[in-house]
This record gives sequence, C-alpha cells and structure tokens, in this order.
Amino acid sequence: NKGNYEHYMQKEIHEQPESLTTTMRGRLKHGGSCKGKTVLLGGLKEHIKTIRQSRRIVFIGCGTSYNAALAARPIIEELSGVPVTMEIASDLVDRQGPIYREDTAVFVSQSGETADTLLALEYALENGALCVGITNTVGSAIARKTHCGIHINAGCEIGVASTKAYTSQIVVMAMLALAIGDDAISSQARREAIIDGLFDLPYKVREVLKLDQEMKDLAKLLISEQSLLVFGRGYNFATALEGALKVKEVSLMHSEGILAGEMKHGPLALVDENLPIIVIATRDACFSKQQSVIQQLHARKGRLIVVCTKGDAASVCPGGSCRVIEVPQVEDCLQPVVNIIPLQLLAYHLTVLRGYNVDQPRNLAKSVTTQ
Ligand code: M6R
Repeated sequence: NKGNYEHYMQKEIHEQPESLTTTMRGRLKHGGSCKGKTVLLGGLKEHIKTIRQSRRIVFIGCGTSYNAALAARPIIEELSGVPVTMEIASDLVDRQGPIYREDTAVFVSQSGETADTLLALEYALENGALCVGITNTVGSAIARKTHCGIHINAGCEIGVASTKAYTSQIVVMAMLALAIGDDAISSQARREAIIDGLFDLPYKVREVLKLDQEMKDLAKLLISEQSLLVFGRGYNFATALEGALKVKEVSLMHSEGILAGEMKHGPLALVDENLPIIVIATRDACFSKQQSVIQQLHARKGRLIVVCTKGDAASVCPGGSCRVIEVPQVEDCLQPVVNIIPLQLLAYHLTVLRGYNVDQPRNLAKSVTTQ
C-alpha cells in the first residue's frame, strides 16, 4: 500500500523518521541515577563478550548493505578498538579470503536471502568464525544460519532501491558499536553523546526531508546529464558510494562515488565545466580537507553541488560559485544517515523526470537469490 505516495521508493524515503524510531525502540536506555545511558541488543546478549574479544570484525554484504557497513566502520573501530575489515560477499568467496576462528563475521542484508552473502556466510561458518546477522527479515536464511544477530525492524521495503533499510542498518551498527564499547570508561561521554544523537535523529531526518522540492529542482537541472560524480571521505565515503548507487540503479544515469582522498590519483582528470560533481562537506574531522578539495575542483572550473552543514554555505562555496544543499548537523558518526537523504530524493526525482520505472528498475530484482 503506497498510501498518499505515487511510488514505494518515495514512500520509503519519507517514512524514515518512523522506520528509524522503530529500529531504536526498546534498545536505547536513558539510564537511572547510577547507570548511564546504554544500549540493549537482546539478540547479542550471550555473544557480546566474544565479539569484544575477537581478533577482528569483518563486515560482509553486497550493494547498499555493504555501503551501510562502510558508513559504520569508523565508529565500530573507534569504540571497540577491534580492527574492522570490509568484504564484498562475492569477492570474499571468489578469493576464498582468510577468515579465522578468532574473527567475528557480520553479515549485513536487508532481505536476508542474497545468494552471494549466503555463500560467504557458509564459508565463514566452515572457517569457524562467530557469525552475526543484521537483516530486515525475520526467519530469513541469513537470520536463521547465523549464530546471533540484530533485526533492523525497518518494516517491509518494496522498492528495489534500498532506502529506509540503509539508514536503519547504519543505526543498528552504531548501536552495535555502543554495545561493544560499553565496558570502556574512557569513551563513556562519547557514547552518551551518540545515544543522545540517536534519540534526536528522527527529528533531524524529518527536517532534512523538507529538501524534497529543492532536490526536485536540482533533478530538473541534471535531467539530461550523462554522468554525475559524488565525492566523500571519512564517515561520508559511504554516502558517496551509496548516493551514486542510488542514482545509477534507478535513474539509469552513470554515477560514481569517489573517495575524495583519491581525487588527485586519477579522477581529477575528469573535471571540466560540464560534469556535475556533488561534494559531501558536512562538519566533522575531515571538513577542512573537503574545503580544500572544493577549492581544487573550483580552480578547474568544476560544476559543484556541495552538501554542507546548515549555516556553512559561505564557507564551503568560494565566491558563491556552487549550488549548496544545507543539512542539519548530528553526531559525526550519524551524519551519513542525514546526508544520504538528499541524494535518495535526487535519485527518485531524476528517475521520475526521466520517465523510468522507479520501483522496478530494468534488469534488477529486489532480492538477488542467484549468483
Ligand atoms: O537484501 P540485501 O541487502 O542483501 O541486498 C543487497 C543488494 O542486492 C542491494 O542492497 C542492492 O544493492 C539494492 N538494490 C541497492 O539499492
């Protein structure tokens, strides 16, 4: 049921304040006078100590689910102190890459039925790793075959393009980081700030959804472009990859997410006055580096669209020369949840304006159950 919306993708983008609330329901504790704010992940209770003590955490997934894990990687590393590596499921299986008994392997999948991810799970089980599932589908193969897990509770997602599942997956993995780091006094203030940020997140998401018309206007400008680049780094490298994935899979426009730190190692050659480039430059530890990326792109007459923190338009846009999309600021590790939303809206409007099927893009299936 699409309710008042024209398409499932549109409905699922706009229901993110509610889906995120459901994802967090019953899992965040304000804490009493003696116990601080904490996170409760029932499905991991018996295993959290093993995860904390594992030699490595390996995230495994495909497409959007992989990108969600990439967005959460820095906060898991920071709060757990455990090295985190990333694997695209098919590539892990192709390489028969090393997975050890001392590893925690985390399988991220909206459907819980993706063939590549399932094969990687079987491989990790054979190698003796502790296997954790993060899925949106109770009773799915990945939920059943993993040792333990967290359900993302985002509600049924029908559009082939994953939107609300992505933001809920990031929130679940931020909560996972909080749960693993729960025994460290040194990071308590940081953890409490993130928990406060999580409580506030649905309101910030509601605010960013007001950019709908602005993103439609931008889509009108970009409608006939051949290609679109998205630059991000740090927490928002994932935003660049996921924004580009959304644009290419539904609007059928070529789009590429680029790690901004790699700009000079090749992509800079593409820059001219015609190719549109989105730069994610919200406030975090990488902000000044992104400012200098913008200056360098500007010096090459790049056609820039900058996603920045509210109030930062003048400091990110040299001489008012670029288009600016201002988003509300949240805790750095939660910023990817807010930042992806304008790009989801852009992908949606581009597709509708270009006349393509937004819920069923050509050649794609919601759940990829074959290799
Ligand atoms: O169900 P899964 O999360 O395992 O699916 C993985 C990918 O097939 C999926 O995220 C795909 O990339 C989406 N269509 C992206 O919007």
